[in-house]
Amino acid sequence: MTHPARPLWLRRPDNVAPGIAYGADYNPEQWPREVWRDDVRLMREAGVNIVSLGIFSWARLQPAEHTWRFDWLDEAMGLLYDNGIAVDLATATASPPPWLTAKHPEILPVNERGETLWPGGRQHWRPTSPVFREHALVLVEKMAGRYADHPALTAWHLSNELGCHNIYDYSDDAARAFRDWLRARYATLDALNHAWGTAFWSQEYSDWAQILPPRLATTHPNPTQQLDFKRFSSDALRDYLRAERDILHRRTPDVPVTTNFMIMGGTKGMDYAAWAAEIDFVSNDHYVEPGPQASDELSFSANLTGNIAGGRPWFLMEHSTSAVNWQPVNVAKKPGELARDSLTHVAHGADAVCFFQWRQSKAGAEKYHSGMVPHAGPDSDVFRSAAALGATLRDLAPVAGATREQAPAAIVFHWDSWWAAEADSHPTDRLRYRQEALDWYTAFLNLGIRADVVPLGTALDGYRLVVAPMLHMVGEPVAKELRGYVESGGHLVTTYFSGIVDEHDHVWLGGHPGALRDLLGVRVEEFAPLLDTESVTLDGDLSATLWTERVQVTGPDTAVLSRYATGEHAGHPAVTRRTVGAGSAAYVSTRLGAQGVTAVLDGLAAAAGVTSELPAGVRGGVELTVRRRGAERFAFLVNRTDQPVTVADLPGEPLVGTRGPHGELSLEARGVAVLRLG
Ligand code: GAL
Repeated sequence: MTHPARPLWLRRPDNVAPGIAYGADYNPEQWPREVWRDDVRLMREAGVNIVSLGIFSWARLQPAEHTWRFDWLDEAMGLLYDNGIAVDLATATASPPPWLTAKHPEILPVNERGETLWPGGRQHWRPTSPVFREHALVLVEKMAGRYADHPALTAWHLSNELGCHNIYDYSDDAARAFRDWLRARYATLDALNHAWGTAFWSQEYSDWAQILPPRLATTHPNPTQQLDFKRFSSDALRDYLRAERDILHRRTPDVPVTTNFMIMGGTKGMDYAAWAAEIDFVSNDHYVEPGPQASDELSFSANLTGNIAGGRPWFLMEHSTSAVNWQPVNVAKKPGELARDSLTHVAHGADAVCFFQWRQSKAGAEKYHSGMVPHAGPDSDVFRSAAALGATLRDLAPVAGATREQAPAAIVFHWDSWWAAEADSHPTDRLRYRQEALDWYTAFLNLGIRADVVPLGTALDGYRLVVAPMLHMVGEPVAKELRGYVESGGHLVTTYFSGIVDEHDHVWLGGHPGALRDLLGVRVEEFAPLLDTESVTLDGDLSATLWTERVQVTGPDTAVLSRYATGEHAGHPAVTRRTVGAGSAAYVSTRLGAQGVTAVLDGLAAAAGVTSELPAGVRGGVELTVRRRGAERFAFLVNRTDQPVTVADLPGEPLVGTRGPHGELSLEARGVAVLRLG
């Protein structure tokens, strides 16, 4: 995997200080001029030194096909520059204007039922539409031409959250592009027929023209067709990204290009591991979804983003100061959460912290979404917290540029396995790939052990312990890599529904988990998923849900660590571990949830020689993350609890936080400290 190489501040305006970038999406077109003056004054007060500008400005910039209005944007850019605020300037192509969709309705996406998605929201364009591309690229050329030499311009913000609303388009444009993609992948119809298993249900194709996206069908459409459509849809947007990027690179070779990913919760459609190399630095948007693992999920996403960025600093392009507007119930942040959330991203490598958005909107679909300046105005807790964060980030300037320090353990993340494991027509529709991975991450946090979340394909040899939860899709090269990892002394843990299919979604025969069966030294003849009303227990009183299996141990070196205590498989193995030379391969055959997994991982980590680096008293209560520049290391300590925590026995000079009389660090509920270690 290659990674973007350019630093965030490749082109820093001469009047902006180096350090961590701080700011927000700024939408001045929603406000009269007098508010703009107030905005920049308050931005300075809050320590803002960067904004993203013009993201949804297409209709204002090009009100009619041959009419262009840049005066207002020139003025906003100038005002920002004069106030020492850099601009991450959007290409403005995210939301096409009414004149364009009225003239060219053929750019509108079509859903799987054949229904057109009409204008009225945003991102109403087909990723594969040649007409949309033509018009959008004219705008990109104009923007690049006009602002290439603007002193405020620090980076290009390509489109916005590509695929947020339009990842799956089933239109005729998509059908054409899908066929081209399939031809490039399979070359012959025979190869495609084999890969898609079209001998089943009379699906054999005799002409490329017969192939369609998986539109609404009588029953489950072909699984490999569905999987390939997911792969294609991610690639089609990446192809669009390249088209905008190539113009920007040609017109402004010294200005880095980024686009904001959405590595968070349920955003599943874009394989960002395959996108990262296309841009000059990685950016991510993250919104917390309330629930018991909310802050763990934030850390998980930040961690994965940092590793997708190859350990290099990245840009947190959006998160919220408080509530969002698009969840069923939009919860306001508790005291301390605004800073804790931002600094957790910094801990995992973010060198820029930005919010959506600067000033909370007065009208439109996001008027109840928080901003740095809320409806109440600057005399508010939200604004004061945002300004306090600005000061904290100034104190963290020495951290800027430091990379992530590799952890002793890793969790492997794989988009194809996510897509394939959660497909329809499976043993249960209750499988949740990301939740399983998150449960293992919570377990590492509970044990106070640092773990990286890495995309499959990352070199594993530096990790003593690797967990590959629900690694469903394992082709021969991946199986070989995992074997090699274990044989050279690595400790692998995997779970139910791993190693079941190859890259075409064809089952490995001879017993599950086919691709990993020999490595794990176990064999499973039949899956036995549980109903929602059922659960079983394992030795040690662990409760298991969702999935069970009759596990046979096949190798002399495979030890049974835990057995089913109740249910159909009582007395049979539930958790096993095979020793392979100095390494091992462990298998967890059921869903244990975060608490159960913590108990199992405790033993597996100890056996792998992986222990917590935190003082015993705060393990589980505090998350430790380390960034490094040469010999200089920065330890981030994040209080995971809603109670104050005291951390003793940790060396280092506090950049954030203060030491008490005995050298102890006191973290408020949800508080953060940062130490500079020698
Ligand atoms: C993102 C988007 C922003 C804003 C935000 C609200 O999806 O990029 O423009 O809509 O969500 O949470």
